[in-house]
Amino acid sequence: MQERIAELRAAGEAAVAAATTTDQLEELRVQHLGRKAELPNLLRNVSDLPPAERGIVGKAANQARQALQAAIDARVAELAEAELDAKLVADRVDVTLPGKPEPVGGLHLLTRVRRDIEDIFLGLGFDVVEGPETETVHYNFDALNHAANHPARDPGDTFYLAPSPRLSGDIQRLLRTHTSPMQVRTMEEQDPPVAVVVPGRVYRPDSDATHTPQFHQVEGLWIDVDITLADLKGVLLSVARSIFGADRDIRLRPHFFPFTEPSVEIDVSCHLCGGTGRLRSGERCPLCKGTGWIEILGSGMVDPNVLSAVGRPEYDPERVQGFAFGMGIERIAMLRYGLTDLRTLYENDVRLLEQYA
Ligand code: DAH
Repeated sequence: MQERIAELRAAGEAAVAAATTTDQLEELRVQHLGRKAELPNLLRNVSDLPPAERGIVGKAANQARQALQAAIDARVAELAEAELDAKLVADRVDVTLPGKPEPVGGLHLLTRVRRDIEDIFLGLGFDVVEGPETETVHYNFDALNHAANHPARDPGDTFYLAPSPRLSGDIQRLLRTHTSPMQVRTMEEQDPPVAVVVPGRVYRPDSDATHTPQFHQVEGLWIDVDITLADLKGVLLSVARSIFGADRDIRLRPHFFPFTEPSVEIDVSCHLCGGTGRLRSGERCPLCKGTGWIEILGSGMVDPNVLSAVGRPEYDPERVQGFAFGMGIERIAMLRYGLTDLRTLYENDVRLLEQYA
């Protein structure tokens, strides 16, 4: 009997020593010390033994059970620590990685509208180019066919820069009043055909609910041998629909600009009343003032004098022709977002921006 106890103890201790996980040890505990295991059963049945053996067997079995229990406990402690270490390594969190914060802020409405306009024209095959904000009188007025007495040249309508005392022979510079100077600059640089849009800042000394001294325009220019007023209408109809909705229509109204002939203003059918001039309530539409139409930009066929001002045979007005247009980004943003005061775009009140995030 004692031999059997010694065997059970040795087998148990060997198995415990060989165990590599706490789960295995739990199984061993059930197997060697559980209710159905041999050793505890021996102990339970000690009373059936002859009285002389009871003490010896009972003691041996008890010692074996305690020893096994102690071996399991010790090994569990060892393995649990190792398992925890392994888990800590496996689950390690790199606290130096950048977090994933909730998105904060967003693009300014003017940036959004500018990018949308750029995307629309890129999709139509136009390139996006930019030009200088300080211009010469030549590019801003002369090359664009402005008469010598054109009112926009007046210092009350244009910010002129003081000539620099450090530059000898410095020519008169100004803050560009429109993006149109890039028409001639582009044609000086690129051979026809050209199709470009020019987003950028422009400056005029005006300040009220619909004017700020600095604002933004997008100029457009498409020159080739056979570009007609029909192309102008087709391109601008498609652009108006991309910006204001697929149901929009446009109309061309005769106008005057020095650098286009003929010149037109483009109206888009009102997106608030659907062009009817009346809201569903029957009230007069406040956006188009009951007319059903909203002016969105100036345009026209590039004046032959502008092509001649480029001074390159490639732009001989007998050979090439095309159209130009200019639109105000603020105006488009105000129409699209229903703003009534342009200046809110420059106050940087996040509540305005958050409304459209
Ligand atoms: N430059 C004009 C302005 O600032 C806008 C404009 C009108 C641009 C007609 C054009 C055009 O290219 O063809 O009011």
